[in-house]
Amino acid sequence: MKLAWFSQLLRLTLCSGVAMLAAPVLAAELVVAVGSEEPERYSSEALLARADVVQVQLPGDPAYAQPRSYQAVPLAALLAGVPSDATVQVTALDGFVAELPAEPLLQSHAAGARAMLAIENPDQPWPALGPERGSAGPFYVVWVQPEAGDIRPEQWPYQVAEIRVTSSLAERFPAMLPHQNANELVQTGWQQFQTHCVVCHTVNGQGSARKGPDLNLPHNPTEYFAAGFLKQYIRNPASLSRWPQRQMPAFPPSVLSDHELEALLAYLAHMAERKIP
Ligand code: HEC
Repeated sequence: MKLAWFSQLLRLTLCSGVAMLAAPVLAAELVVAVGSEEPERYSSEALLARADVVQVQLPGDPAYAQPRSYQAVPLAALLAGVPSDATVQVTALDGFVAELPAEPLLQSHAAGARAMLAIENPDQPWPALGPERGSAGPFYVVWVQPEAGDIRPEQWPYQVAEIRVTSSLAERFPAMLPHQNANELVQTGWQQFQTHCVVCHTVNGQGSARKGPDLNLPHNPTEYFAAGFLKQYIRNPASLSRWPQRQMPAFPPSVLSDHELEALLAYLAHMAERKIP
């Protein structure tokens, strides 16, 4: 794997993963390892003292669903030297893994969508995301002008525990791929799956997320959902079944168009024929 060495390129780890739920918030540590050189380590305080820290105002913040303001550094500054065709894996404390193409994260154009790493100040902790939940800290990937880059809610990972640069998902997990001769709808569905679903689900046991069930093994939901209900489930899981710990988010047409949903179902149905025991 030609980009294997990148897996160690940049890592962000925490002094203490359990700090999240406990008050007071403990300082977290950022470890940035580039190539084979010694990793650099920064504490939250050191990051907050950087010359490139800015205060960002976000009119729409998906984690808190209200306007918020953060102290943040440009993610591009922390990813210096990363090639634009790499994949940046952002792992949260709860196992959510966002697979982000490096290119948009590296943009620093003033008019474009810009990714920033928001840093929770241990002296001024952020509010909890909900009852019995921690805050979005210690680190949260946020976007300035997200509308300029078609940035989706899944591209805003919070409670970030680790950032690592790696090769593409397709290279790492070939058993998630549709057949190369599969039609365009299926290929579009695979793109949609990578944007929206791979953060929580595996297919054929492949992928890094461990939050939701595998969507092919032992059975594919296109096999056991009665007609129409799978679409309804993806649009609004709570409209089919509810319980307090339910985690799967709804995907309304503003996030996933009818055509994209159609394509996603075509990809899932296609994968039902490509089970890898
Ligand atoms: C934030 C994590 C998350 C995301 C994103 C997510 N899911 Fe889920 N999904 C879950 C979890 C967790 C469950 C198990 C039920 C629950 O807790 O809500 C689930 C359940 C499901 C089920 C039902 C499986 C069953 O046997 O009952 C299907 C189908 C499904 N997801 C498809 C998708 C698709 C397709 C996408 C992308 C459009 C997606 N999910 C995105 C977390 C997620």
